[in-house]
Amino acid sequence: MIHIEPSAFTARPHHLWNERWFLLTSGDLQSGDYNSMTVAWGGFGTMWGKPFVTIVVRPVRHTFSFLERYDNFTLCSFKESFKKELVLLGSQSGRTMDKIKESGLTPIPSMQVSSPSFREADLILECKKMYWDDLEPDHFLDESIHEKYPEKDYHRMYFGEILAIREAATARGI
Ligand SMILES: Cc1cc2nc3c(=O)[nH]c(=O)nc-3n(C[C@H](O)[C@H](O)[C@H](O)COP(=O)(O)O)c2cc1C
Repeated sequence: MIHIEPSAFTARPHHLWNERWFLLTSGDLQSGDYNSMTVAWGGFGTMWGKPFVTIVVRPVRHTFSFLERYDNFTLCSFKESFKKELVLLGSQSGRTMDKIKESGLTPIPSMQVSSPSFREADLILECKKMYWDDLEPDHFLDESIHEKYPEKDYHRMYFGEILAIREAATARGI
């Protein structure tokens, strides 16, 4: 993996989020207290002069409780061939099964945060939480957004400062 400075990071953000998805992980590798889930809604940019990502997580997710207890998380992107694993990690809950073991993916230490990264990833973002807020349905300006919340389980949004970016040396074709 090659370390990439945030100012040199290039990506096709909508493609990465919407089509490739990320594996979001929060917790502590050393104590084994962590969980992962697939995410497809979020973004990259700059906030308060810092490189950051936005993620949105519904409170019902098991991963939510880890995000609340830990101050950091990682986002890992994988080659297309890992879609099956991401579907598993995005449809089963860590509350009821050891889905990470089941996926065959390998948790590895991150460089700067307690949350693990994954050996098979070809892009890893290590992030430290810097802000959260709950999406407010009264603020939805596009009426169709309400259809995304039949259970009214509105996402909690987190801003994470990007502390480290690593990419596989092989071209990722993004
Ligand atoms: C492609 C895809 C994208 C997803 N994106 C999100 C997301 O951005 N936010 C969210 O709360 N859940 C999202 N999910 C759902 C969670 O990944 C899913 O509910 C998962 O099983 C939660 O696992 P957990 O209970 O172990 O945390 C997505 C699922 C898939 C398959």
